[in-house]
Amino acid sequence: MTLWQAAQSNDLVPRSVHAYYRYPARFSLTFAATAIEELSRPGELILDPFLGGSTSLVAAVGSSRSFVGTDINAISIFIGRAMLARHDDDAQASLQQWLAVQRKRWSYRQPGFVDTSNDPRLTNAVNIQTKAIIKAAGQVLASIKELDKEQLQQTATCALLKTCQWALDSTRDIPSLEAFRQRYSDVLSILSTRARFFHALRHQLAGLSWGVHQTSAEAVPTLPEFAGDRRRAALIVTSPPYPGVHVLYHRWQLSGRKESPMPYWIVGSQDGMSEAYYTMGGRSGTGQRSYFESMERVYSQLRAVLKTRGHIIQLIGFSETAYQLPRLLLVMKRAGFKLVSDQSLIWRDVPRRSWHARQTAASGAREVVLTHQVR
Ligand SMILES: C[S@@+](CC[C@H](N)C(=O)[O-])C[C@H]1O[C@@H](n2cnc3c(N)ncnc32)[C@H](O)[C@@H]1O
Repeated sequence: MTLWQAAQSNDLVPRSVHAYYRYPARFSLTFAATAIEELSRPGELILDPFLGGSTSLVAAVGSSRSFVGTDINAISIFIGRAMLARHDDDAQASLQQWLAVQRKRWSYRQPGFVDTSNDPRLTNAVNIQTKAIIKAAGQVLASIKELDKEQLQQTATCALLKTCQWALDSTRDIPSLEAFRQRYSDVLSILSTRARFFHALRHQLAGLSWGVHQTSAEAVPTLPEFAGDRRRAALIVTSPPYPGVHVLYHRWQLSGRKESPMPYWIVGSQDGMSEAYYTMGGRSGTGQRSYFESMERVYSQLRAVLKTRGHIIQLIGFSETAYQLPRLLLVMKRAGFKLVSDQSLIWRDVPRRSWHARQTAASGAREVVLTHQVR
């Protein structure tokens, strides 16, 4: 498959990545995998500084490449780590046993175990329709503490994140408690089977390394993977936030589109940042200035960790293409990159996504794939 064909691919929800979380504005696994296969060799290092839902991580592992990813969002890093969990047979068996015993505790009649009344991360979450599920989610969180291995806790928590997203985020029909419990068991079974499979592949994947870090893309050169002038990435495959486009990376929309930081409650992390933080500036004029300044700082830093003949391939959409695309190309030039002429601009229509429905017909409606090399 050529990069052009891969860029048109709309498999936004490939089973392998989607099983963990539906990350907003994710790119397709086919796109990431094709870019990696075309522009790097097995064993080389791939970097995604705007990791999001870890699509690029899955593509890198599947193509036998090493990988480093960064994101400032704790949800993103949590998902990346959960994808890297490996379970041996004993771990798998103890997870199944845990589920069989604990499942009985997840009921409205049982005690709550976790306080769901005062936690600010449950703002806009608890109401008459959702309270049974949220109480059960608190019970699952309490049960997870009884698992003795960190990797098992990660898998069980990721299954809860995914199940609660299915049950509550942008959903009108809240499922019954029984449907919630059943879905949780099913998701857990899929994720743990994958972790078992990943463990079984350890010999084929020996010598490769994968790391995800909660830090700004600007800090990539300070990561241990790039310490001491040793290692350089052969390829950066990434999708930065889109300038001027509204995307909620850090909120779920519950009951009537009320924004809730509930995912941070599940992954056990603090929240406190605004949309502008996760989108590198927000939609105002000042926000957009700060977006392009940040992009220039980030890409200037990334130049230092890319091999001399390495590539950057990025998928990006715009709210005002005529102004923002030239501005981005200027940023890339100042950061030390040039467009690769033979496959420089690949346009594709944005497939239907929930956030996109909120944009005007013109804004964010098209995305472009840009391929760059060091100048
Ligand atoms: C378009 S999403 C990436 C989606 C990803 N390609 C996928 O397939 O799921 C952009 C990501 O950039 C992250 N981000 C925003 N500013 C950042 C920064 N300064 N450093 C690192 N990540 C940042 C956001 O949190 C968001 O997860």
